[in-house]
Amino acid sequence: MSLLIKNGQIVTASERYVADIFCEDETITRIDQNLSAPRGTEVIDATGKLIFPGFIDPHVHIYLPFMGTFAKDTHETASKAALVGGTTTFIEMICPAKTDDPMAAFELWLGKAQGQSACDFTFHMGVTRFDSAAEHQFTEIVKRGVSSFKVFLAYKGAFSVSDEELYQTLRLAKKLGVITTAHCENADLVLELQKKLLGEKKTGPEWHHQSRPPRVEAEGVHHLLTFAEMLEAHVYIVHLSCHEALREAAVGKYRGVNVWVETLIQYLLLNKAHAELPNFEGAKFVMSPPLRDQRNQTVLWNGLREGLISTLATDHAPFDFGTQKIMGKDDFTKIPNGIPSLEDRVNLFYTYGVKRGRVDLHRFVDAASTQAARLFGLFPRKGAIQLGSDADLVVYDPVYRGIISVKTQMINVDYNPFEGMTIEGRPHVVTVRGQVAVREGKFVGQPGRGRFLQREPGHF
Ligand code: URP
Ligand code: ZN
Ligand code: ZN
Repeated sequence: MSLLIKNGQIVTASERYVADIFCEDETITRIDQNLSAPRGTEVIDATGKLIFPGFIDPHVHIYLPFMGTFAKDTHETASKAALVGGTTTFIEMICPAKTDDPMAAFELWLGKAQGQSACDFTFHMGVTRFDSAAEHQFTEIVKRGVSSFKVFLAYKGAFSVSDEELYQTLRLAKKLGVITTAHCENADLVLELQKKLLGEKKTGPEWHHQSRPPRVEAEGVHHLLTFAEMLEAHVYIVHLSCHEALREAAVGKYRGVNVWVETLIQYLLLNKAHAELPNFEGAKFVMSPPLRDQRNQTVLWNGLREGLISTLATDHAPFDFGTQKIMGKDDFTKIPNGIPSLEDRVNLFYTYGVKRGRVDLHRFVDAASTQAARLFGLFPRKGAIQLGSDADLVVYDPVYRGIISVKTQMINVDYNPFEGMTIEGRPHVVTVRGQVAVREGKFVGQPGRGRFLQREPGHF
């Protein structure tokens, strides 16, 4: 099977030029001017379009047992939504309960995705307990192709690890040559602040921020980087939300800690005022770390532009407002944490980043695709348009205009946090390993065709 994409403007993290791209089976095999199509080739006219490498979301939750409920999407709904939005690969967090067997959790998450996901996928392995039995299983899981760990410094009594466990996780990660991703908030501080606020009858979603202020996140970053420094481990801070935390990461970077930073589209475009909306509407915007004061957005955009922040992810975590967020009606600490955004990340980043002059096209591709591929051992198979790369391509229409709405979304949740926002561009065609999966905003691919991407450790 072959595919020829003609006359598009190819844009990667470092290059921009007009050429044709020829794909055979699953791979890009020629990039040149005036390529002709052998008989039977599907030809796509990309005149006036931009062609990006398939976008990678390095932080999503699909199967997620959390806070007494489960995130709403299935791998089928989430992957279709991802593809319509231009994301051709995602990295899902495996989040076992502390009492779960890590290997059983890996098999469970893999089983949920395999044969269901329409786009390619891989995992970060959550370390929620560290003992010698678990250590052995983590080593086996890395051999099975999962070359990154995830630790939570937050969520006391659920996912959070002790300092001893953090130390042992980073020691093992260093030994195996894998990177550790980390949710950085001080779990004890959060718990004490929650107790104090509830004791003062401050129970609404508007108090969520006060229970996890910027210093609590900055302390988490500082804490992680102290441990990473001692062990010379490689760490990646997920969903960094504010100036204070970014300053801690920058200080760590300058003293030589191997640290990379991710932020989210939510933090760039939504703010604390959303979580303060009346009539419990604010619950739709409760996530951790919380949405911050608007002043932080300039810092995050600048951090992205300058590369101090490497990646832009979603932390997609969809919970229905009507039946799930409502669980915290009388107690904000019971509102399932998370804001969905898998479908809209790329179009919003393009519109409010590139079109508004906050980041250039190359940094856009880099932050939403190439950096994740490099950091997590997928490059140049993913995140690149070059000979031999997987033919994951986004033929992007920069002239399209649309409005985000729950009424038209593909994700399986009863609201959209970006409701009513304009987008100025969207994927015209999306391919996954040489097959067209999306045309004009419609999924036309093969459900369940997505492949588990095994990643080698030790590429640092
Ligand atoms: O609020 C969030 N971020 N929910 C998803 C779980 C996590 O912490 O990543
Ligand atoms: Zn988190
Ligand atoms: Zn997350």
